[in-house]
Amino acid sequence: MADPILPDIDRVLIPRDRIAQRVAELAVDIAGHYQHQEAGLTLVPILSGSLIFLADLIRQLPMKMKIGLMTVSSYTGASTKGRPAVVLKDLTLDIEGQNVLVIDDILDTGNTLRLVIRELATRCPNTLKSCVLLRKPAKAPPDLNPDFVGFDIEDAFVVGYGLDYDNHYRNYPDIGILKPELYRS
Ligand code: IMP
Ligand code: MG
Repeated sequence: MADPILPDIDRVLIPRDRIAQRVAELAVDIAGHYQHQEAGLTLVPILSGSLIFLADLIRQLPMKMKIGLMTVSSYTGASTKGRPAVVLKDLTLDIEGQNVLVIDDILDTGNTLRLVIRELATRCPNTLKSCVLLRKPAKAPPDLNPDFVGFDIEDAFVVGYGLDYDNHYRNYPDIGILKPELYRS
């Protein structure tokens, strides 16, 4: 059966084997960083974009952890323009005294990560760090420095491996650049 997603992809930016290799490297870095920490590790993935990254990453982290889901929206519907980020669903876990690692799919304007870090910092975690799979250095504000970064990428709108356009394409296994004629910016 022909894959109906492929015609919508302009070109593959990061193929699946390269993603897998880099996620494994990130897991080694993260595990090394937290291995001697006494306080528990709590991952806070930002939904929905970080779903697939999270699933692959945590299965390579040989440590006890809690996961607290948080849903934040900055791109609403069929648009690729960043809006002010809003917390749509807050996490229900208490993170006081915990080592918190925020996980997001991509750092673009930084609105999302800045909001989440500012919010979680008020809840007295022991440590508060962040990990993004992708970063667009052309747009990411220099004051926001995630502690773990998978790939720096060009300033293009990408989909796949959890990243969406209007909630589509999350299941595309590579990270690809969407054909510009298919989206409104
Ligand atoms: P920021 O708030 O502008 O940093 O954007 C972060 C959020 O916007 C990410 O969590 C993604 O959900 C979404 N986003 C930003 N850039 C892209 C992209 O190129 N493709 C798909 N989603 C994106
Ligand atoms: Mg997102």
